[in-house]
Amino acid sequence: MKLQGKLALVTGAYRGIGKACAEALAREGARVIATDVSAQGPGYEGDVLYHQCDVGSQADWERIGEAIDAEGGKIDILVNAAGVAPTKSGVHDVTMEDWDFILRVNQTGVMLGMRMATARMLGKGPLSIVNISSIWGQVAGTGQIAYHASKGAVINMTRNVAVTYARQGIRANVILPGLIDTEMVRAQKPEMNAVTLALTPMGRIGHPNEIAEGVVYLAGDTSSFVTGAVLPIDGGFTAQ
Ligand SMILES: NC(=O)c1ccc[n+]([C@@H]2O[C@H](COP(=O)([O-])OP(=O)(O)OC[C@H]3O[C@@H](n4cnc5c(N)ncnc54)[C@H](O)[C@@H]3O)[C@@H](O)[C@H]2O)c1
Repeated sequence: MKLQGKLALVTGAYRGIGKACAEALAREGARVIATDVSAQGPGYEGDVLYHQCDVGSQADWERIGEAIDAEGGKIDILVNAAGVAPTKSGVHDVTMEDWDFILRVNQTGVMLGMRMATARMLGKGPLSIVNISSIWGQVAGTGQIAYHASKGAVINMTRNVAVTYARQGIRANVILPGLIDTEMVRAQKPEMNAVTLALTPMGRIGHPNEIAEGVVYLAGDTSSFVTGAVLPIDGGFTAQ
């Protein structure tokens, strides 16, 4: 088991990619704190404890910090997987309500998670942060201006943290999932998913576990010389 003895925190772990990450980390021996905006967690396989946390809420992050302090004040792995994509608006018609909501969860939420973890682990490392961005953080599809803005920010916030704390035992890397079979994708118009699928060289949708396996690699010590890396897990989408 690659992550024996480590404490990992995963956001957005009620379902989808976050849940798959929580279970994969637990399978590798980590003790996992799974969090989500939902008050109650689903059932999990393995050593997984559930806490409610809206990633956009400073107060919720303070409670999570207290929970980590109660576990000894150290966190080894942080996976920021929470994300939303409720509107597909382009820049001409995006509302401030949608813009603020998406940036609050997808961008500010990742910053607050990294702030909580780095503040605790500075001088105590190692800490491995894995952020979940998107292919739409690196290349453009049509519309979804707020989602693109937030996911691009996640990539460069990750690089900033990697460079800033590289000598202090803190690593930060980012995964860019392509089209992955989750509720987020199932809630979108089939025509929209068909376009992304048609542009995916492997010609298939990915499974949340295929993202989780990348998270396990970046979270653990086998990637000890990797920081600031941007890892697409996208069936070849961003290679084009
Ligand atoms: N599925 C894909 O094709 C795909 C592709 C690229 C990137 N992503 C990214 O992967 C991540 C996971 O997405 P998914 O596909 O599993 O989606 P999902 O909708 O199935 O799961 C997202 C989870 O985040 C939680 N969440 C939403 N708002 C939250 C908040 N304010 N605080 C805490 N938790 C919150 C939801 O409750 C849910 O459990 C997201 O960041 C998403 O943008 C997904």
